[in-house]
Amino acid sequence: SLPSKVKIVEVSPRDGLQNEKEFVDTALKIELVNRLSAAGFVNIESASFVSPKWVPQMADGGDVMAGIIRRPDTLYSVLTPNLRGFEAALAAHADEVVIFGAASEAFSQKNINCSIAESIARFEPVAQAAKEAGVRLRGSISCALGCPYQGETPIESVVDVAQRMLALGCDEIDVADTIGTGTAKRVGQVMRAVTEVVDPARVSGHFHDTYGQSLANILAAMEAGISIFHSSVAGLGGCPYAKGATGNVATEDVLYMMQGLGIETGIDLEAVADTGLWISQHLNRKSSSRAGTALAAR
Ligand code: HMG
Ligand code: MG
Repeated sequence: SLPSKVKIVEVSPRDGLQNEKEFVDTALKIELVNRLSAAGFVNIESASFVSPKWVPQMADGGDVMAGIIRRPDTLYSVLTPNLRGFEAALAAHADEVVIFGAASEAFSQKNINCSIAESIARFEPVAQAAKEAGVRLRGSISCALGCPYQGETPIESVVDVAQRMLALGCDEIDVADTIGTGTAKRVGQVMRAVTEVVDPARVSGHFHDTYGQSLANILAAMEAGISIFHSSVAGLGGCPYAKGATGNVATEDVLYMMQGLGIETGIDLEAVADTGLWISQHLNRKSSSRAGTALAAR
C-alpha cells in the first residue's frame, strides 16, 4: 500500500545548480532557497562544501548559507566529502551534512577520487564529528541503479554500502539513480533489499530523470515502503562526473502525482511552479517539468 504522507527533499540549489556551466550568482542561489522554503519544503539541499576545483559552481556555499532566511521548520543540508567540508558546514550552521559515496568503484574514483573502501574511511571522521556536534547525517549512494562507467550495479553492492553508511551512523540513506537508467521493477528490488537492512523510514529515493522513468520509479519505491523522495524544481540538475545524465525528477511533477494519489506533501504546488518558471527564466532555458509547463499555460 502507498504512504499517506511523503517527505520531499528539494535538491535544486545543490544538485540542480552544480552542473551549470555559467556561474550562477550567489544572490540568485539565495533567492532560490528562500523561495523554496517559503513554498513549504522541510528539507532543502542548499550547498556543497566540496573542492572548488572539482565543482566550481558550488564555491560560494558559505555565502549562500549565510545569506538565506532560515525557516525554523526547514532543515538546510549540505554535501561534505571530507573533514574539511564538514568544518565549513559546521561554520555555516548546516542542519544536516551529506556524505556521498557510490555503489560502483569506477564512479567513486571519478566523482570523489578514491575507492569505495577509501571513501568510507574518509567519511568516518566526518560521521564522528557530525555526531559530536549533534548535526544530522545523511549518506548518499550513487549509481545504485546503474553506473556510467561500469553498467549494471549488483544489488549486493548497494546493500553493502547502505550497511556501511548505517554503521557510520547515518540518520538517512539515499538510494540514488545518478544516470536515470533504473526502471520500476529494479527499483522495487533494490528498495526491498536495502530495507531489509535499513529501516524503510530512513531510506530515500533520489532519481534522475534521464530516461523518463522517475515518476514510475517513485511509485515503485512507495510500493516497496519508501516515503522520502528527492526532486528538483524545473527538473534542474545533473552530476558533472556523470556525463549525459540529466536533472532530477521535477518537483512540480512529483507534487502533481502526489496530489492525484491523495498523498500529503505539505508543499504548495503553485508556489513551486512559479519558482520553476522563475529559475528557468534566469538560467535562460525551458523548464524540464511537464506539470510546471502545463500549469503555466493554464
Ligand atoms: P582530491 O583531489 O582527491 O583531494 O579530491 P585533495 O584533498 O587532494 O584536494 C584537492 C584540492 O581541493 C586541494 O586544493 C584541497 O585543498 C581542496 P589545492 O591544495 O590543490 O589547492 N579541497 C577542498 N576545498 C574546499 N572544500 C573541501 C575540500 N577538500 C579538498 N571540502 C575531493 C577529493 C573529494 C575533495 C574531490 O574529489 C571533490 O571535491 N569531489 C566532489 C565531487 C562532487 O561534488 N560531485 C557532485 C556531487 S555528488 C552527486 O551529484 C551525486 C548525488 O546527487 C547522488 C546521485 O545523483 O548519484 C549526491
Ligand atoms: Mg544527484
